[in-house]
Amino acid sequence: MSCIDKIDKNKVPRHVAIIMDGNGRWAAKRGNIRTYGHQQGVESVRSVISAAARINVQYLTLYAFSTENWNRPKYEVDALMTLMVNVIKSEEAELNNNNVRLVVIGEISSLPKRVQKEVNRIVENLSNNTGLTVVMALSYSSHWEIINAVKTIASDVKKEKIGVEDISRELFDSYLSTAKIPDPELMIRTSGEARLSNFLLWQLAYTELFFSPTLWPDFREEDFYQAICDYQNRERRFGMTSEQIQKPNLK
Ligand code: IPE
Ligand code: IPE
Ligand code: MG
Repeated sequence: MSCIDKIDKNKVPRHVAIIMDGNGRWAAKRGNIRTYGHQQGVESVRSVISAAARINVQYLTLYAFSTENWNRPKYEVDALMTLMVNVIKSEEAELNNNNVRLVVIGEISSLPKRVQKEVNRIVENLSNNTGLTVVMALSYSSHWEIINAVKTIASDVKKEKIGVEDISRELFDSYLSTAKIPDPELMIRTSGEARLSNFLLWQLAYTELFFSPTLWPDFREEDFYQAICDYQNRERRFGMTSEQIQKPNLK
């Protein structure tokens, strides 16, 4: 039986974030170069987008390239940039047919011009779609994002647009690149690594974490549904007691 049959449609997370990890190891296990793993990982991206849309997840954030990934060998960075352009071109029509909207977070200006051009074009082209929103984290890191937010807040205080006393959690949220996007209820990381690698540090404050041993190119729809089922079996307490959650009317 597919795990999809066990999913409670009323408890589907609105936002799922994924650290797509393990492409290099997947390729090495097959005696191939790392970039082969990145190419194969594209099929998993397709599969997970389709699974998320099928169960009515509203936001799917995919960590595709981190600020720290710029430190990889030049051939690998170049190959990843070329792959991004090719994937945008090959997937655009399908995403549009499926009513998918695309949002990109990260330091887009640090990407090569040809990538920036394609990214901006596809974001614009899909901007009126109303189905699943895919948030691609490209040249993204939380430290970059938080420092950016702090700089803008400081500058707005200086310009007297806001006062220091206005700074609240909600205001801080609105200065992040994920402003208007609800925090993820579930974060999945593949490949067995149990760390956040500078991903959504602020937004994941109360997110359920799911670490899968599967390498990204092997992660498909069914693995995604399993993560959702696991999430649905957890009790989210937000600092309260289990009793308070189960009997909300108890004082
Ligand atoms: C994730 O797979 C893809 C990116 C970070 C771009 P990796 O390339 O990190 O693969 P491993 O972790 O080395 O196996
Ligand atoms: C995190 O994976 C970044 C992406 C998946 C894009 P890494 O493979 O770069 O993370 P570390 O360096 O192992 O923590
Ligand atoms: Mg990795």
